[in-house]
Amino acid sequence: MSGTTSQLQVDGKTVDMAIKTGSIGPSVIDIGKLYAQTGMFTYDPGFTSTASCESQITYIDGDEGVLLYRGYPIEQLAEHGDFLETCYLLLEGELPTASQKADFDYRVTRHTMVHEQMARFFQGFRRDAHPMAVMVGSIGAMSAFYHDSTDISDPHQRMVASMRMIAKMPTLAAMAYKYTVGQPFVYPLNSLDYTSNFLRMCFAVPAEEYKVNPVLSRALDRIFILHADHEQNASTSTVRLAGSSGANPFACIAAGAACLWGPAHGGANEAALKMLEEIGSVENIPKYIAKAKDKNDPFRLMGFGHRVYKNYDPRAKIMQKTTHEVLNELGIKDDPLLDVAIELERIALSDSYFIEKKLYPNIDFYSGITLKAMGFPTSMFTALFALARTVGWIAQWKEMIEDPSQRIGRPRQLYTGAPLREYNPIGRR
Ligand code: SDX
Repeated sequence: MSGTTSQLQVDGKTVDMAIKTGSIGPSVIDIGKLYAQTGMFTYDPGFTSTASCESQITYIDGDEGVLLYRGYPIEQLAEHGDFLETCYLLLEGELPTASQKADFDYRVTRHTMVHEQMARFFQGFRRDAHPMAVMVGSIGAMSAFYHDSTDISDPHQRMVASMRMIAKMPTLAAMAYKYTVGQPFVYPLNSLDYTSNFLRMCFAVPAEEYKVNPVLSRALDRIFILHADHEQNASTSTVRLAGSSGANPFACIAAGAACLWGPAHGGANEAALKMLEEIGSVENIPKYIAKAKDKNDPFRLMGFGHRVYKNYDPRAKIMQKTTHEVLNELGIKDDPLLDVAIELERIALSDSYFIEKKLYPNIDFYSGITLKAMGFPTSMFTALFALARTVGWIAQWKEMIEDPSQRIGRPRQLYTGAPLREYNPIGRR
């Protein structure tokens, strides 16, 4: 393999393939002409060695545990910025100036209300529906409510759709929560910042004054920053694939949310908390560690392991710190779930199975404890992930749509089914 090309020998034929280099991270071998030249496809289920696109948004170094949004380390953004600043950065590529930030905040704030008919749309769901079922349905339904921002060839409509989704996602998530607990929906209050407004829409009731706790609001805002984007993860790849056919952005983001819901992905925050509750106490940990290591047992440590991170997920470190801040603020001295989590992490990180497989806590390991302490039910955790990831999905969708070389995504396959055979009429089978 040379600096700019690599060679592959297939059936005695030598095929040259260009090597493309990014700004940082592994280079890629461009196999785009491989089929035309050899009649063969590449095979990589799970995409462990396949880059599906070029992107300038997020960079991960999984071995070093590094995460950058547009070049900025996640630690710096989480410590110094706010979520809407991160949204601007992901969408526009640069941190905003003070006036750009004020204008962006204003524009997002002016889209926080949802069409009043949506409240009636919600009435169609059962009260015991999972909030993610309600989210997937209501995000998709936005394309029925906002026809005037579904033309993807119009940059203005793309921008309006983006603003609408970032602004309305907290409103929809809060409505999904209120609906399950049987309380009236709370309208957004635009004098509040993005995250304080969301907390109020979730926890205020008409019968009482509600004062937002600034420590909790800041902590949740940081949690949103941590979840905002993560390059070509499963849900983002789903958004890109859905968008590659020209589907409208609301439909694409609904597809992403549906993918996120799975327990191997964003559903892991809910699964991790349920697991900690099931383990219950520190004495039970060895039993569950043994189950996680047993190939014949489907149990896995939820919130552990990652396709890309073979080191500590940098978000998990910030999340752990945030957990302590939130518990301190709420005066929770002894949280048995936190005790179990800390001990589980300690034991897992000193166990040869987890060391050899490089399994570390990921972002979902500590987030559930924090969100639970804030008052969110377990079933809402993935909806909060979806709320925060919306901006990442949109930034990635926008990047793809604005790329002139964009084509429909269409993977091929290794066919292993029946070869050609004759149809047999039903009476002769
Ligand atoms: C997210 O991709 C992203 O960027 C996602 C995300 C984002 O921000 O978008 O970071 C968000 O989805 C975080 C991940 C949340 N999921 C979980 O916490 C669920 C538990 N973890 C896993 O199921 C698993 O680790 C995955 C799904 C996260 C990664 O799966 P991979 O890369 O396909 O790895 P694998 O399942 O093939 O595991 C490799 C080995 C296997 O053992 P062997 O067959 O090689 O012997 O490690 C073992 C696995 O059995 N293993 C675990 C384990 N995770 C992997 N064993 C015990 N407990 C675990 N959690």
